[in-house]
Amino acid sequence: MIRENDLLKLIKYAAQAPSGHNTQPWKFKPGKSTVTILPDFERALPVADADHHELYISIGCALENLKITAGAFGYKTEVQLQNSGAATAVVVHFEENNEPESDELFNYIEKRQVRRNMYTTQKVSESTMKALLDVCREKNIRMKPFTTADDRELLTPFILEAASLQTGNNKFMNELINWTRFSEKEAVKKGDGLLTATLNLPNLGRFLGTLLFKGLITPRSEMTRWKKVISYTPCFMLFTVEKNEPQSWIKLGQVFQRFALTATEYGLSHAHANMPCEEGSVRKKMIDTLNLKTSTPLLLIRLGYSQPMPYSFRRHLTEVIQ
Ligand SMILES: Cc1cc2nc3c(=O)[nH]c(=O)nc-3n(C[C@H](O)[C@H](O)[C@H](O)COP(=O)(O)O)c2cc1C
Repeated sequence: MIRENDLLKLIKYAAQAPSGHNTQPWKFKPGKSTVTILPDFERALPVADADHHELYISIGCALENLKITAGAFGYKTEVQLQNSGAATAVVVHFEENNEPESDELFNYIEKRQVRRNMYTTQKVSESTMKALLDVCREKNIRMKPFTTADDRELLTPFILEAASLQTGNNKFMNELINWTRFSEKEAVKKGDGLLTATLNLPNLGRFLGTLLFKGLITPRSEMTRWKKVISYTPCFMLFTVEKNEPQSWIKLGQVFQRFALTATEYGLSHAHANMPCEEGSVRKKMIDTLNLKTSTPLLLIRLGYSQPMPYSFRRHLTEVIQ
């Protein structure tokens, strides 16, 4: 049984999870002793994420938050995946735990945020790197750090090529504009999407913002911006899966969420540089060059130290509970 006054809190923490373009592609269906997380395909990203791998990674992030919160509130959980047609749902069974196991990472769920600002060149220490790598206990999932200047040079052409492809793709840009919230008023009203302040941009209003995105964000400007971002990034982490399927994507989301919370605990900033994983042709080149063999790279994250950024919004709980 889930205690009545715990249910909303459990879902609130789960929904603090990150998601591609802050789409929050989930619904939570409560039962007496279960919470089922359902994919919400109306919030999918058909251009940036045609096969829904990022959608399921986001669901995995929400699942990990839910599990960590359950532990903090005195529950044991068991997870079961349910496939029906093209959808995979996650059923989380709750049982009261006589010996509560609070996870330190619970304290970082609300503090975690994606920081897209410039990082200092301060290196990530070996002990911090070890703590980050230790979050991955899944055989099917690998984390590959890139910490030297040579490492960064290896990744640079893939990041630049994919950033250029995406910016030159009208469909990609339209999808991005659609999910960008060009003022705080718009972000508060919708409770989702990419608030311009989290992208290091001022509040522009939708009309001006759309014009500026279409006119000023070009393949050339993005490549220049990314060159600078890379030079200010002391470390990248590449996440790969052995089996490229929803079950692994959900597991990867769980691992990634523990990584992001651990990074927050250690005072590190992180942000996504996923473009080479999203663009099929670039992903393929990256697999060959980095000799990833049968692994599929699905997340590329930059890590370093920077100032906090404004937080993203979330939808009201009534909109995410089914
Ligand atoms: C699977 C996944 C893919 C993401 N891809 C990108 C990305 O390509 N570029 C980016 O800047 N942020 C990316 N993000 C970060 C989200 O935009 C971010 O989580 C969302 O805007 C909510 O902000 P918050 O994490 O700070 O709460 C991704 C997040 C997830 C979970």
